[in-house]
Parts: sequence; structure tokens; C-alpha cells
Amino acid sequence: MHTAVIPAAGLGTRFLPATKSVPKELLPIFDTPAIQLVMDEAVDAGFEHIIVVSNRSKPAIESYLAPSVDVVNRVRDSGRADLADRLARIGKDVQVSVVYQDVPRGLGHAIVCARQLVGDESFAVLLPDELMGDSSLLATLSAVHNATGHSVIGLKRVDPTEVSAYGCVRIETEPDSQGLVLVTDVVEKPKAIEAPSDLIIIGRYVLAPSAFDDIESLQPADNGEIQLTDALRIAAMANSLRGIVSDIERYDTGTPRGWLEAVIEFTLRRQDVGPAFEQWLHARFR
Ligand code: G1P
Repeated sequence: MHTAVIPAAGLGTRFLPATKSVPKELLPIFDTPAIQLVMDEAVDAGFEHIIVVSNRSKPAIESYLAPSVDVVNRVRDSGRADLADRLARIGKDVQVSVVYQDVPRGLGHAIVCARQLVGDESFAVLLPDELMGDSSLLATLSAVHNATGHSVIGLKRVDPTEVSAYGCVRIETEPDSQGLVLVTDVVEKPKAIEAPSDLIIIGRYVLAPSAFDDIESLQPADNGEIQLTDALRIAAMANSLRGIVSDIERYDTGTPRGWLEAVIEFTLRRQDVGPAFEQWLHARFR
């Protein structure tokens, strides 16, 4: 398995008016677009081919994915060698492809847009609205998938009031020491009182190739969208869906408030700019 799919075709309506002209995946986390951080996570977890599912109305994404030597050199000259290295590997050590989803038909449909390029292989899906503190969860999902052959999804325990904004799972037994669980049902955005648990699906998945057939077998939901969650449910019913319950740091950058929190957290942890920013925060809010 070497391919990671990043669905980035959404129009970012929760982030208007900024997304009128800037795709939300390019909004900077300090100086680095969110999609770069998500690609770095995939590469750090061992993926060598990244397929970005974009929309023809967002040409800036493609421009970003083809960084010129000049940009890489300028970043390096400004003292950010680590970032320059990460930019330089795009298109060299890491192959990046772009496919299009020109109609907003849901996450499941977006993933199927990458089917031909993925081929008959397992693959990861990373939702770029969510930033993880590191690549450890994705690496664990891959390892469990490689060991079992089953699709594996990232899960997190949240306050029960939050589940209605996410996919939510039913599990039969408590997580083992690695956090591994058998997922027996999946519900997209349940009402709090109907939720099967307080475990939500966070945007990291490693899927068996059969997921494509499962998605393609689905009828669109009432809103016309083809949901990935409905395909996961088919796997859950066949006892072939696993989850990893994780307490990884996670930021939902799909809303202005979540994005701002991510910017602050990621800036604070940068060695080059973090300490000075922290001092400023202390002075400002003393
Ligand atoms: C999507 C998925 C949902 C998942 C969530 C994670 O929802 O459909 O199951 O829990 O991502 O962020 P969306 O945020 O696109 O509404």
C-alpha cells in the first residue's frame, strides 16, 4: 500500500468569505497551508503517492502542488530548511496526482474519483479539514490494516454533545492496549440520544480495495450525496471493519474558530517562531 487520497473538492462554505477566493486547504497554519501538513503526515507514515481530489474551480490547489525551485530556495534561504525539504520532496520522492470531483456529491463519491489512479490496492484517506499532532495514528491504522487486511478507521472519544456532527460507531468490546476495536455499526451524524457511543470517526481511514465497490453500490442519500460512512457500514455488517481509539491531538480546521486554535497550537510548537510567540501571548494576556 503506498497511496493516500486527500479529498479537497469542497467549497468551504463554513469559511466564507475567505473561501470565495482561497481554497480552505490553502489557509495558512502560520506560514504553511493546511494541505501541506496533511501531506507531510501521509509521507511521514510511509505513503509515497498522494492523490488530491480537487475541483476545477480551485486551481490554486494545483499551483500549490507544483512548488518551483525558486520557492523552495527562498524558503530555505529564510532559515526554514525543514519546511524547504518537505516542499522539495513533492514531485520527487513523493508523487502527487490531482483528480477532479466537479459535482458536490459527497465524500464517498470524491473517493471513487481516485479509484482509477489507486488501482486494486488498499489506500489511506486523510480529510484535510483535520490536522493531527503527528503521523502516529495513520501509521497505526496502516500497520493494523497490513496485519489484518480489514479497513481500519481512526476513532476518538468525545463529549456526547459533539457526536451529532460526526460519523459515530458501535463497538462490542472495549479497546485493547493498542486501542483496537471491532466496529459493528456506523451511523453518520446521529442525534445525541440515538448515538451508538461517544466514539466519533476522525478523518483518517485505511481502506481495503473492496471499499470502492461498497461505495459504488450505494444509492445517494436524500441530499444527493454518497456517504463514505454508508460504505463503512457495509464492512461493519460483514465484521470486516476495525477502529483504533486514539487520544491523538486533533484540530478541526474546517471552521474559523478551529482553524485559529490550530494556528496558535502549531505556531507555539514551532522551534523557530514558537518561543517568541509564546512570550508575546504571555505579555498580551498577563
Ligand atoms: C466527514 C464524515 C464523518 C466524519 C467527519 C470527520 O463529515 O462524513 O463521518 O466523522 O468527516 O471530520 P463532514 O465533516 O465532511 O461533514
